[in-house]
Amino acid sequence: MSEPTPLASDAIEERWQRAGRLLRDHWDIVCERPRVEPPGWVTARGWHEFLGSLPEDALVACEDDGLAAHAAALGAPADLRAMLAEADAICALPPLGPPDVDSEGAPTRRVSLRKRAQLAAFAAALLHRRPAARRIVDVGAGHGHLTRHLADALRVEALGLELDPVRVATARALAGDRARFEAVDVFADGSTDAITSDDLLVGLHACGALTDRLVARAAEVGAAVAFASCCLQKRPEPARAPLVPGGPLADVPLTRDRLGLANISVGPHGIEVSLRANIAARARRAGVLALLRSRGLDLESGDALRGLNRRRSQDAFPDLAARVLAHRGLDPPTAAELRRFEAIGRADYGRTRRWSIARQPLGRVLEIQINCDRALYLVRRGHRAALGRLWPLAISPRNVGVIAAPR
Ligand SMILES: C[S@@+](CC[C@H](N)C(=O)[O-])C[C@H]1O[C@@H](n2cnc3c(N)ncnc32)[C@H](O)[C@@H]1O
Repeated sequence: MSEPTPLASDAIEERWQRAGRLLRDHWDIVCERPRVEPPGWVTARGWHEFLGSLPEDALVACEDDGLAAHAAALGAPADLRAMLAEADAICALPPLGPPDVDSEGAPTRRVSLRKRAQLAAFAAALLHRRPAARRIVDVGAGHGHLTRHLADALRVEALGLELDPVRVATARALAGDRARFEAVDVFADGSTDAITSDDLLVGLHACGALTDRLVARAAEVGAAVAFASCCLQKRPEPARAPLVPGGPLADVPLTRDRLGLANISVGPHGIEVSLRANIAARARRAGVLALLRSRGLDLESGDALRGLNRRRSQDAFPDLAARVLAHRGLDPPTAAELRRFEAIGRADYGRTRRWSIARQPLGRVLEIQINCDRALYLVRRGHRAALGRLWPLAISPRNVGVIAAPR
């Protein structure tokens, strides 16, 4: 059987429309983040009885495999099943690269297994699709792991553009003469003037607005471009304006809060943090939120760990609570508070996750819609584009990739 091919121009446009329509038809679900009590979109559709009464083992199975996999057997309401089936169809993406990639193939110092697998898959997809380029320009290069890896794999000159001068110094030290790095803000006037149609612009974890910048510059100069989708909500402006005018989402504001829905984990769960560990971490965050509110802070649900690395929520509850309170200049937690709010967190998140399983599939649909918007923009500016998945979900859920080159 031949390999399914990635989406190309007409299929990208069709997926962009279809994903946009599903989101538009369920816009209330996109907009209202679940809390402890059933959200308005759950009660309005009469889904609270089904979701609210799922036994724990069924809930865990839905979190593991996605609600769509179990919805029929569990007797989910018909309109919920229809939404899930459409989301599943939209989210089916063919691979961008060859079927088997050796994830050990990037023996890069100071790089995690998960990152090494991404580097190997990114390079393999480029070698597979072969967009012509005399030079790689890695936008938001960080420590330059991708820059170095592509310079070696594609045997071309490579330049990394990176805002943070400390990271640039590390990248230079790690690369030696394999790649060059410049400390630059790619949004600053004139900062990308040296990019030409001979370049291949690449972005790995080029968060939010950075990937949009990459796409706009590639279209402007007629350069090839390859990127993996990442954290759409990370952008200075309050909402993302679509690159392609019109379409089903033209007049609904994609604010940062709504874009955050696309940043959820989707199963099967990671090679570094298991689903169980993630659920326990979310319960701890819910406990810390309740503790902060009890101390008089008026916070939104995503704000409990603001200013701290989210990985801190893998810490034990007493450590996490003490760190968060210290960070906010508050008195340390008492033993009674720790006992009480750890239990409240477990109970609160135990409710919230029931509603979340019905909302999460739309996050992936949103991620695909926005990457179709980027790919379609390139197509309309004269590129040939391919959209698909760069690596398995277990390596990283942010696996939607686009490779495009001028026709
Ligand atoms: C999540 S990191 C990814 C780094 C690297 N691509 C990787 O995959 O390891 C995003 C990088 O983009 C850089 N960055 C953010 N805004 C930028 C800008 N305006 N110009 C250049 N680099 C930027 C950040 O400093 C950070 O190093």
